[in-house]
Amino acid sequence: MSSPLESAVEIAREAGALLAIYYERRVPFELKGEFDLVTEADRASEKLIVERLQSRFPQHGIVAEEGGGHASPSEYRWYVDPLDGTTNFAHSLPIFNVTLALERAGEMVAGVVFDPIRQEMFTAERGSGAWLNNRRIRASSVSRLDSSLLCTGFPTRRRHLNVNVHFFHQVAMATHGVRRTGSAAIDLAWVACGRLDGFWEFGLKPWDMAAGRLLVAEAGGRVSDMRGRPHDFNSPHLLADNGHLHEEIVEIFGEVFGGRYRVPLPVISPSSDSA
Ligand code: IPD
Ligand code: CA
Ligand code: CA
Repeated sequence: MSSPLESAVEIAREAGALLAIYYERRVPFELKGEFDLVTEADRASEKLIVERLQSRFPQHGIVAEEGGGHASPSEYRWYVDPLDGTTNFAHSLPIFNVTLALERAGEMVAGVVFDPIRQEMFTAERGSGAWLNNRRIRASSVSRLDSSLLCTGFPTRRRHLNVNVHFFHQVAMATHGVRRTGSAAIDLAWVACGRLDGFWEFGLKPWDMAAGRLLVAEAGGRVSDMRGRPHDFNSPHLLADNGHLHEEIVEIFGEVFGGRYRVPLPVISPSSDSA
């Protein structure tokens, strides 16, 4: 019998192959919120994953983004994002993934992020490290913020209330740059393997970060809230970094929370659009 992680890998691979078929075919999107996209691919992937999990782990609970999960008294609960990066997917931008993670008694114990475009399978099991296609991965060793590349995200729900633009500007001014891929689980997986030195986002859902959070921790990185305190999984605000940059990022965030900007936002004047 295969372990939960082995099962998650098999299921994510199968769901990823399904997403790739829909991606080639190009499917129309619908709106489930004002700017919150969903496609037939999200639903088909979720159906496949939930069916497979149910047949292998009939006692386990499942929390799935598109509502296909079910509660259970079991101490085991799966978090499923059948297509993370739907907006990219719907616009044919090849940055998306399928991600699932298993929680046991409130602690994440296994997680996978599968990118079907790059055929990259990121896996982590509590206490056993983080892996990319069976090769061990580690967070980067970059130790200066002014030599780092960070990443962030902006949720689609209630986006007019999101304060992140303030943080984006200050961090962009202090680093080599801030990327925004449109796929939170990929962002976290890329922090875990050192392509990015850190990631933060306000307003994540549990399925966006369940596996990625474990990947970063198992890769030697650090996961916290925006103030540097331990991250409560129920909190939607997450900072994940390589550990070396943690204090510096938290310091900048503290300044922004207090309204102190190292670099003021530029003022737009009549000459702004002329050379
Ligand atoms: C979204 C992506 C995006 C992040 C949003 C998420 P979805 O997930 O991860 O990068 O900024 O907060 O909701 O809706 O594509 O599964
Ligand atoms: Ca997501
Ligand atoms: Ca999704």
